[in-house]
Amino acid sequence: MPVTIVIGAQWGDEGKGRFVDYFSANAQMVGRYAGGDNAGHTVAVKGEVFKMHLIPSGILHDGVVAIMGNGMVINPINLLKEMNRLREQGITISPDNLVISSRAHLISPAHIELDRGKEAERGEDKIGTTLRGIGPAYLDKIGRRGIRMGQMLNLEDFADALETSLNHYNAELRREGFEIVDVKASMQAYVDAATELQPYIKETTVYLAERLEKGERIVCEGAQGTLLDVDHGSYPYVTSSSPTAGGVMTGLGIGPTYVDQVVGVAKAFSTRVGSGPMPTQEEGEIAQRLRGTGDNYWDEFGTTTGRPRRCGWLDTVLLRYSRMVNGLTEMMLTKMDILSGFDELKIAVAYDVDGTRYDVPPSTIDALERAVPIYETVQGWHEDISDAKTLADLPEATVNYIKRVETLCGVPIKAVSVGPERHQVVNL
Ligand code: GDP
Ligand code: IMO
Ligand code: MG
Repeated sequence: MPVTIVIGAQWGDEGKGRFVDYFSANAQMVGRYAGGDNAGHTVAVKGEVFKMHLIPSGILHDGVVAIMGNGMVINPINLLKEMNRLREQGITISPDNLVISSRAHLISPAHIELDRGKEAERGEDKIGTTLRGIGPAYLDKIGRRGIRMGQMLNLEDFADALETSLNHYNAELRREGFEIVDVKASMQAYVDAATELQPYIKETTVYLAERLEKGERIVCEGAQGTLLDVDHGSYPYVTSSSPTAGGVMTGLGIGPTYVDQVVGVAKAFSTRVGSGPMPTQEEGEIAQRLRGTGDNYWDEFGTTTGRPRRCGWLDTVLLRYSRMVNGLTEMMLTKMDILSGFDELKIAVAYDVDGTRYDVPPSTIDALERAVPIYETVQGWHEDISDAKTLADLPEATVNYIKRVETLCGVPIKAVSVGPERHQVVNL
């Protein structure tokens, strides 16, 4: 069976991009199924750092076709910028290796203004969105008034639909006292973008099904993470799509019978960007050491927004839940190298909520906000592990940490990464 799904097991930024790149080496296709340019996926190859927001990370491999699935919401201006940036870095991008679903939805400038306005209005209670217009675009999709990428194939109809939508939202933006959109300038920019993108827009569901039936393999690239899922995450502090494994079925149009591998990617500690509960969050020295100073591109500052990420100890309560929700067949742990230098490490094994023990997270936001982690302390290590190539190169304490996490989560850890570069993966 030819489908590998790569899922973020935490709150996003687990290192999905680098593991999608890893699995794409043995695939013919790679597909994004949810989200938009709220994602930021980093892959480092021989010192060259690629940052993908919309384009599936597998495109870095020759011969792999990248599919932007129907479940995505796409800002065409930012997509063209990203295509050009990747080309400047030497990556070939043409309709032969990049296909955009005609059913994917458009993010318009009005969605971005609505996102900004609503977040400002929420004040202290803001979600901490990436301000990319994601929520408003999905609202239009579910509200059956969205504009789909396929409409770009008829420029006149596309321009009409966009104009109607922008005028409709300008009235709302004005009513709410938010910034309004320059309709004429936006129309020009979007019609120009549509003209450039036309050759890439196709019916992808049947295209994909036919290739799967021939036995070709696809890597489905998760964006965001399990705890940001609109159903299964820490609602309302979530994104507006389904980043979990179920999202693949609807977001690319693949039947579950095709799936044979569901890989959860987790960082060896926890990070979260934006608002909402994070039981294992640390402040002070521990957080700073996990976050880094910002001098390295892999330090914990958002790829998309530059915001410092909240940092804390690994939370296996969430990982256990992630295993269940996604049906993980295996897990990968990233950034193991960052844990070098601690005498002791803590792992959250359960939560205490008002005197009751929870082995999986409570489903209501107020209970999750009151969750106090129950920690287990394990021995740390001081060795630099970034050159490790095999299990035998890892210190005993590192191996013990991995084994303990594996036992607590109930899913095999098949590999860990010890640095951001493509080759810095240790198979276990
Ligand atoms: P994604 O959104 O899940 O693809 O993850 P991001 O790219 O947003 O964030 C992960 C960051 O960690 C990136 O800067 C990666 O280059 C970096 N990274 C991934 N794996 C490792 C690792 O094993 N060690 C170190 N030091 N950095 C890593
Ligand atoms: P990748 O794919 C981390 C978070 C935002 C905010 C919430 C809602 O790089 O892991 P949105 O703009 O989607 O409406 O914001 O979701 N968020 C992410 N956090 N990594 C991401 O993507 C994220 N995409 C959205 O910070 O809390
Ligand atoms: Mg990211």
